Formats: sequence, structure tokens, C-alpha cells
Amino acid sequence: MQDREHKRNMKQYKIAVVGATGMVGRMFLRVLEERKLPASEYFLFASARSAGTTVEFMGKKHTVRELTEDAFKGLGIDIALFSAGGGTSKVFAPIVAASGAVVIDNSSTWRMDPDVPLVVPEVNAHAIPEYKKKGIIANPNCSTIQAMVALKPLAVKYGLKRVVYSTYQAVSGAGMGGYSDLENGLKGEAPKKFAYPIAFNVLPQIDVFLDTGYTKEEQKMIEESRKILELPNLRVTATTVRVPVFHGHSESINVEFEKPFEVADVRKLWEETEGLIVQDDTEKGIYPMPLYAADTDPVYVGRLRRDFSVENGINFWCVADNIRKGAATNAVQIAQELIRQWEA
Ligand code: A2P
Repeated sequence: MQDREHKRNMKQYKIAVVGATGMVGRMFLRVLEERKLPASEYFLFASARSAGTTVEFMGKKHTVRELTEDAFKGLGIDIALFSAGGGTSKVFAPIVAASGAVVIDNSSTWRMDPDVPLVVPEVNAHAIPEYKKKGIIANPNCSTIQAMVALKPLAVKYGLKRVVYSTYQAVSGAGMGGYSDLENGLKGEAPKKFAYPIAFNVLPQIDVFLDTGYTKEEQKMIEESRKILELPNLRVTATTVRVPVFHGHSESINVEFEKPFEVADVRKLWEETEGLIVQDDTEKGIYPMPLYAADTDPVYVGRLRRDFSVENGINFWCVADNIRKGAATNAVQIAQELIRQWEA
């Protein structure tokens, strides 16, 4: 009875999606439809290119609006989910935040800003209130998100001495352009988004190269892991690779712990971890794969085994749908947690 009373009194929020016509934006809409947030109204934004077109969402047609400096004025929007590229976020996130909305931004622009929380809800929901400083919450990089869900309980129980990431990332992580390059490449067409063909190939470059010799994607994984785990001095390195897979990032993760451990205890810990599914039975040939993780929300772990080359180390394989948990689902979960904290 009390619960029902509470629901009846619960505020209904106005929610905007910026970049609603893009790869992640469309998934925002699907995840919002699935999760049914307490929303009274939705507003969809994109560039002038698609302004005026209609999108079927929540059982009715929504007209896409052009994102301009004044577009949010007077609408009373509470939460704005952004996935319209870094440049758009840089310019418009502060403008939208100034209009009174909390921006949940999927680009990398604000992630390392000390006044912006970088959130994976299962890992550090406690950081969300820091949005009050700038009105922005950053959604981490797709490869980082899935690793965080698996690593957090291990960091708490055993302490992390060193982490080595090697990734196998899907083309959908590069937006519509990346997706089309694989689709058309399979028919023999030349790539438009990537520098080289991705069909029947593997590209050891994601994003631009930095002076250090690392790519920006690798640097993101390193810096974002430290921020989310609140371990600024964590020894962590990464090699990020694009593979000809449409959906789902895979990662080989090697971890050294501070403390001794038992493999069976790590597995048990993971089985009790929210958002994580253990698929690990080598006798039956069971392990996570992107084809089967696609279009689902959990993070999958398997191939768990002791690294005999160091004192306290493990190797494991970690897979998740990069557009769902790696982007849209995580952002919508942040919105849900934000609302939960407002209502508490
Ligand atoms: P549009 O479709 O009008 O170009 P993806 O990463 O899959 O390519 O998607 C990018 C998304 O970001 C699209 O929805 C795109 O809209 C949107 N977008 C790109 N530039 C802008 C901009 N300057 N203002 C608003 N939305 C933008």
C-alpha cells in the first residue's frame, strides 16, 4: 500500500535524447522503452540533417528536433542523454546543463574532468551526486565499462597490483560508419570510416595515435579504469584492436592481485556480482562469445584460470554488447539511479 502510494506521488520526468538518430541514440530509445522510466514526456534531438523527420518511439511518432543553443529553453527537461559526438557534447552539454537538465554524456569529452563523475552504476553509483558541480555525468568508454563490472569486486577483495587489457572490439563501436564498413566490406567495397578494410582483417588501431605510441582508446581504458575504481596509481596497460564483428566487445584481461586467492573464490565472487554472468565450463566448451552477448545487457566472464607466471595472477575473458551495456544501457541505468537518488 505504502509502495503504491509512493508510486502515485512519484514525480514524472521530462527526458531528452540528443543524437537520437545515431547508433547509440537509437539504442537509447530501445532501452528507454524496455526500462519504463517515470517519464511524462520525451524529446528527441539530432543535427539539422535529420530535424523534422519522425521516429516511432513509445508507441507514437516523435518529430526529431534540431539541437540549437535555444532548443532546450522553456522545455523543463530534467535529464538529457547525449550521444552525438564529442564536439557536440563539448559545446552543448554545458548549455543544456545551464537550462536545468542533468546531462548524461556518452562522449569522451567530459570523462576525465575532475568535476564530472564517471559512472558504472554497479561499481560507483556513490559518485553520481558530484554531477551537481557541472550538471554533467559521463558515461565511460564501452571497453572500460565491461571490465569495471568484473574487476571491482576483485579490487575490493584482493587489491589490484597490475591489469593488462587486450581487446577485440566490434565495428558498431565506431558508429553507423563502422557498421557500414564491415557490411559493405563483406561485399568487396572499399572502407569509408576505417583506414583499412575491416572485413577479413584485424586493425590494431582504435582512434588516433598519441605521442606515447598508444592509441586514444588505449589511453581512455587506462585513465578511466583508474578514475572509476578510485585507484589513481593503478598499474594498468592496454592494447585495443578492432575485429570484424558487428556487435559485442571481447577482452582478454590479465590481473595481478596484492593478496593470495583461490580461483574457486573468484568465480563465487563473480556469481554474486550484480550485472555479471559467469559462463565458464571448459569441459562443456562454455565461455562467453560476442555473437551470443549481442542484444543483451549483462557482462559475461569466463576462461578464468590462474596465471602461473606470477605470484597472485589470473587470466579471464570478458564480453558484453558494446552498444547496450557499453553505452546505452549503462547511460539509462545512470538515469534510473539518478532518479532513485532524487526520490530517496
Ligand atoms: P544526424 O543523424 O542528424 O546526423 P553515429 O555515431 O551513429 O554516426 O550517430 C551520431 C548522432 O549524432 C546522430 O544522431 C547525429 O544526427 C547526431 N549529431 C551529429 N552531429 C550533431 C550536431 N551537431 N547536433 C546534434 N546532433 C548531432
